[in-house]
This record gives sequence, C-alpha cells and structure tokens, in this order.
Amino acid sequence: MAGGERIFVQAIRRYCASRDIAVDVRAGGWLIAMSRGGTRRFAFGYDIGLNSAIAHRLANDKSATAEVLALAGVPCIPHRLFLNPKLGRDVVGAAWREAMLGLLHGNPEGVVLKPNEGTSGRSVFKVTTEAELDQAAGEVFSMSTGLVVSPYVAIEDEVRAILLDDVPLVVYSKQRGPDWRHNLDAGARPVLLGDGEVRDACAKLAIAAANAIGIRFASIDVVRVDGAWRVLEINSGVMMEALAKLHPDLVQATYDAALDRVFGEERREH
Ligand SMILES: Nc1ncnc2c1ncn2[C@@H]1O[C@H](COP(=O)(O)OP(=O)(O)O)[C@@H](O)[C@H]1O
Ligand SMILES: [Mg+2]
Repeated sequence: MAGGERIFVQAIRRYCASRDIAVDVRAGGWLIAMSRGGTRRFAFGYDIGLNSAIAHRLANDKSATAEVLALAGVPCIPHRLFLNPKLGRDVVGAAWREAMLGLLHGNPEGVVLKPNEGTSGRSVFKVTTEAELDQAAGEVFSMSTGLVVSPYVAIEDEVRAILLDDVPLVVYSKQRGPDWRHNLDAGARPVLLGDGEVRDACAKLAIAAANAIGIRFASIDVVRVDGAWRVLEINSGVMMEALAKLHPDLVQATYDAALDRVFGEERREH
C-alpha cells in the first residue's frame, strides 16, 4: 500500500508484540500469520479470522445480505443481483436487461448500480435513464461477476457501528464530503456518536443485522431514510484506517478486543 503500512497491520503488530505472539507479515501486509505455542492464526485483508466462513460470505455479498435480513425481518435497502452476462446464457438468461429496466422504471428517483462484492465506493453509480443504466452496467460488469441494483434513496444520515459479539465498540456518523456517497475513501469524515437516541437506535439495528447473518466482528452501515433507519451493508472485514487518524487509541482498543477473542478462544479450545 502506498504511504506505508496499513493501520490494521500496525495494530496487529502492537497487539502481538506485547503478548509474545510472533508475527509474520506476507504479501505486502495482506496476509498476516500470528503464532504462539503450537498454534497459528491468520489475518487476511481486513479480516482477523473471528467470523465463520458462511457469515463472511453472506456479508461480502450485498444481495445475500439483503435477502437474509429481509428473511429475518430486519429493515434494509433491497439489493437485487444480476450476474455478469459473460458467464453465458445458461447461467444468466436473456431477460436481465429487461429486468433492470423494470427496476429503473419502477423507481422514479433512480437506481444505484454497484458491484455485488463491494469495493469501498468504487463503481457505485446512480442512474436515472436507460443510457446511464447501460453505461453503468457495462462499467460494473467489466470488473465484477455480480452487479446489484437498489432503489436510490435520499440518505439523511449514514452511521457505521463496529460490533464485537453484540457489543457496539465504535459508532460513528459519516459526514458526507462533496460526493453523494458516504464512503470515507470518497472524503466522508467519521464523527463519533455520544450516548443518546441515535446511537441506541443504530446499535440496536446493527445488532439485529449481525445476529441475522451470524457475524461476530463486523462493521455495519445503517442509513436514515424518511426518518427510519435501515441497514445498507455489512462488512466482515473491519477497516478503520480513516478513523485511526482521529481516534488512534479507540481503533487499537477495538482490534485488541477482537484479537483477545481470537486468542482467548484458542486457550479454551486446546
Ligand atoms: N441505494 C442507494 N441510495 C443512495 N445512496 C446509496 C445507495 N447505495 C449506496 N449508496 C451510497 O454509496 C455508498 C457506497 O455504497 P455501499 O453499498 O456502501 O458500497 P461499498 O461496498 O462500495 O462501500 C454508501 O455509503 C451510500 O452513501
Ligand atoms: Mg460501503
């Protein structure tokens, strides 16, 4: 990564250094092996290895997340999946474009197209016309196997809750920059929420979402639309690079707490 080692890697190094855990950083920091005694644990990307494989897969897939949340009765923004036509007609069928156009025409405010497996706000397009839809679909399909379409919603507030086993460790509001999207990479600023109604409502919804997909350590984005909170997405990798610039101790404490579970459980199991 340009500009030095990620905060995530630094936090793991700090945690391990003070606990006699050996750290081996490979693949430019993307893969980290943590070893103590006879056991080795891995961190990969922004994933510290606490979540089950199925929880991780559901979270990583925006359409699966929305389906599971709907099944569980947790309010969320719908995300309808369209597979890349390059996978072939047998897999995708011929009517995908008509179905997309149906969604466009059913949502006069427009629809949002983005890769099913998110990429920090990249390739997220708001479209209101057929020409824009075709162009956006072309761009997303040029780099993704799956595309999701959601109704465009006017987001009044977007909040991220970082949960560890049902406890909200960090809850912040994303103050949008010049862009309509709330990604921190696109210039949004994290502002921590103090105790109060908004924090409680967001934490409660995030916990319901985490329980629905069975995830332990996650960052969950919720949005307020027409005064009501709904889940937008769940990330099973917990990225706190931007937050660490403002609140480094909180970020370290959050990763420490999660890593304590990784290594604490190891002691119980063996
Ligand atoms: N349906 C939508 N309506 C309005 N804004 C949206 C919608 N979907 C996404 N956004 C905005 O775009 C940003 C990125 O979308 P998101 O689903 O979080 O994808 P990514 O995984 O790329 O971050 C969100 O933070 C939100 O502000
Ligand atoms: Mg996002």
